[in-house]
Amino acid sequence: MTKITAAITGVFGYVPEDVLSNADLAKMVDTTDEWITTRTGIKERRVLRGEGLGTSVMGAEAVKGLLAKTNTKPEEVDLLICATVTPDHFFPATANLICEKVGIAFKASYDLAAACSGFLNALVTGAMFIESGRYKKVVVVGADKMSAIVDYTDRTTCVLFGDGAGAVLLEPSNNELGIQDFILKSDGAGAPHLIQKAGGSAYPPTHETIDNRWHTIHQEGQAVFKFAVTRMADVSAEIMERNQLTGDDVAFLVPHQANKRIIDATANRMGVGPEKVMLNIHKYGNTTAATIPLCLWDYESQLKKGDNLILAAFGGGFTWGSVFLKWAY
Ligand code: UT7
Repeated sequence: MTKITAAITGVFGYVPEDVLSNADLAKMVDTTDEWITTRTGIKERRVLRGEGLGTSVMGAEAVKGLLAKTNTKPEEVDLLICATVTPDHFFPATANLICEKVGIAFKASYDLAAACSGFLNALVTGAMFIESGRYKKVVVVGADKMSAIVDYTDRTTCVLFGDGAGAVLLEPSNNELGIQDFILKSDGAGAPHLIQKAGGSAYPPTHETIDNRWHTIHQEGQAVFKFAVTRMADVSAEIMERNQLTGDDVAFLVPHQANKRIIDATANRMGVGPEKVMLNIHKYGNTTAATIPLCLWDYESQLKKGDNLILAAFGGGFTWGSVFLKWAY
C-alpha cells in the first residue's frame, strides 16, 4: 500500500489595504527609515483598521479566496485550523468565526497558538489528519492582527509587526508529494523574552495592567535575536541533513519573516543562495503566523511540481521548527 502524504494543493493570502510606512512610524516614535531598513529589512507593513474588525476578517478573506481558487465547496472541508496569537476573542476560537464567515458549518475547527511558529505547527497537525486517512480536505490558516497588541509608543517593537493572513488547503497525495518531514520544538524558558504579559488568566485586565502596557508585546530584541539566529538555522540544517539534501537540492527556503538578518543567516547555514529565499518582510513586516503562507502565496507562480521547500520559523514561547515538503503542483 502506498503511503498517504499530505500535500498543499492551493494557497491564498490577504493583507489589509492600509499601509503603515517607515516614514509614517518616524512621525510617531524616534526612529528612521534607515534604522528600520538596515536592522530589519522592513519598509512598510499593513494594518487592519475599523472598529470590531479582528483577525477572523482577514482569515476569512484568505479562506474565501482559497476555496474559490481550488474549486472547493465549504461543505467539503473536514477541518479548519487557525494559527494565531491575536484571536478575535479568547473564545470562541477564531477558526470557528472564520468557518461561520465562509459557510463551513458543523465541521471541526479550532485555534492553535504557537506564536511565530504557529503556521508550521498547524500545518503539521493538519497533515496528521490527512496522513491517517481520516480527513480529505484540511484548511490551515495563519492569521494575525499584530497591530492590536503593538505598543505604538515603543520604537523597539512597533516598527516590526504588521497584519495579514494566509491559508493553504491540504489534501492526500498518492504520489508522495507534500510534507516529507518536520522538526518542531519549544522552550518555555524563553517566555520572559517575548511575551504579552496581561489579558490572560495570570494577569486579567485591570487599570494597573493597562497603565503598565502589559497588554502589548514585550520583546527583548537582542536576546530573541540570539536564539532565533542559531535555532532557526540549526533545525533547517538538521532537516536537510537527515533527508540528504544539499543547498542545490532546495528550490526555496520559506522562512518566517522577523528580521532579514536572521533569514540571511539561516540561508547561509543551509548553503542556499539569496535567489532561493522567499522574502516579503519589506512589504508586510512580521505578520507572525501569516508570514509563511503569505510567502507561499507571493511566490506561488515560481514554484514547480516536485520542488523541495524548507519552511522554517522561530518565535515566542520560544517555539521553532522546520518542515521539508515537496511542492505538489
Ligand atoms: O518573530 C518573533 C521573533 N522575533 C525576532 O526574531 C526578533 C529578533 N530581534 C531582532 O530582530 C532585533 O533584535 C531587533 C530588530 C528587534 C533590534 O535590532 P538590534 O540590532 O538587536 O538592535 P538593539 O536592540 O541592539 O538596539 C540598538 C540601538 C539601541 O540604542 P542604543 O542603546 O545603542 O543607544 C536601541 O535603543 O538601536 C536603538 N533602537 C532604535 N533606534 C531607532 C531600537 N529600536 C529602534 C528604532 N529606531 N526603531
